[in-house]
Amino acid sequence: STRKQLTIAGVDYPTDSWTNVPRAILSNYGRKLHISQHHPLAITRQLIESRFVGFKNHNNLPGVVTVDQNFDSLGFAPDHPGRSKTDTYYVNESTLLRTHTTAHERDIFRDNQSDGWTLAADVYRRDAVDRSHYPIFHQMEGALTWHRPNFSSRDACLDAIKDSLRKLPKHDLAVEDPNPPFHPDHNPLQEKYHSPEEAEAVGAHLKRSLEDVVVTIFTEADKALASAGQASSTEQEPLKVRWVEAFFPHTSPSWELEVWWRGDWLEVLGCGVIDQPLLIRANQPDRIGWAFGIGLERIAMLLFGIPDIRLFWSKDERFLRQFRAADPYKRFQPFSKHPAAPRDVAFWLPASAQGPVVADTPASNSSAPSPAGGQRTETVKAGVEPVFHENDLMEVVRMIAGDAVEDVKLIDDFTHPKNQRRSLCYRVEYRSLERTLTAEEVNAMHEQVCSELVGRFNVEIR
Ligand code: PHE
Repeated sequence: STRKQLTIAGVDYPTDSWTNVPRAILSNYGRKLHISQHHPLAITRQLIESRFVGFKNHNNLPGVVTVDQNFDSLGFAPDHPGRSKTDTYYVNESTLLRTHTTAHERDIFRDNQSDGWTLAADVYRRDAVDRSHYPIFHQMEGALTWHRPNFSSRDACLDAIKDSLRKLPKHDLAVEDPNPPFHPDHNPLQEKYHSPEEAEAVGAHLKRSLEDVVVTIFTEADKALASAGQASSTEQEPLKVRWVEAFFPHTSPSWELEVWWRGDWLEVLGCGVIDQPLLIRANQPDRIGWAFGIGLERIAMLLFGIPDIRLFWSKDERFLRQFRAADPYKRFQPFSKHPAAPRDVAFWLPASAQGPVVADTPASNSSAPSPAGGQRTETVKAGVEPVFHENDLMEVVRMIAGDAVEDVKLIDDFTHPKNQRRSLCYRVEYRSLERTLTAEEVNAMHEQVCSELVGRFNVEIR
């Protein structure tokens, strides 16, 4: 159904060929979980904010932004894959649901109300279906800049940065950081604007500040949990964190912080030295500083032991009441787990789709895709619109099953040796967090999924 207008939070937007925001997204738009009292995302936000004393907190910015705010103002290349319709929800050609809190950086720098600020908000991305991905999640952005009015004040500014570095709280966790400070191709020193000493001091301040956040909230949690006789938030293992090199258009150099959890490194945030042209576009050529973006769900899942990202959206009292205690640190006690109902769907792609089929490999069963989380960086051949994109299938399943789907993964990808036709098979894991689904219900949903796939993508069910 094509709608001439899309109404979001009482505002009408004209639609066009870019419009791809589904109704299910709009029904959750504006819930503002990150500022709902006693919600685990709000608790997590406050714990992080409390580590940035004196920062101004912006927590109520609407999620509909312009393409300019979300991408252009940040220096995203015109062909950056993050801009594609398969990754991003467009209201129309010039308006979208922000894909990251960075969308507000330029405007906040331009207002220049405080040297340090944080901003928490809901963000929207078309993505896989599994227990750690949901098309709406929350990020907290943070930034700190120092004033460096002209070239001759460079030494004074460097001293100020080093001085604030000395004043940061100390921790005794050994953090792996094998990266050289700069990487000539993808993480260069911004040599036109920064001296190596400045960039290194800013980077050191950034890393220490974020290590402090993670170390403090996880050790505080463990102390509180131990005294309440509960298991540690890191699940018996000592906290382990490391820095890895990352890449963002709006920072250089850039890093990600990963936390060791259940036998795997989990990315929890991205950060870096702010791209100076961005500050110049924000009318702040005389400032230098750092910025970060944290995935709030990831931190909250670790901190409270929340096993499924859908729970954050639950209106079930059995979930919500667990976070009303005075002590913010509490392990979530899962309520009964209802049985999973797996169903497979195998289909032949239409002959025309033999070429560019884009699945965000290594498919949805990878726990890796970014939470903080880097926009997809692999490139899609310019000008070639894929005929079938995995995210489109994900959305069909979400549209039909809503929160009754837990996971969708590619389990077979086969090309017929004779006619070269390609067949894909996905396993859809239906499971409600709130009740047991009947076989009839699951079958009805699955049949609808199959017929939508046929109707939309012209596939042939096997
Ligand atoms: N905007 C980045 C993302 O969502 C995270 C980030 C924020 C990285 C600020 C660096 C600085 O992928």
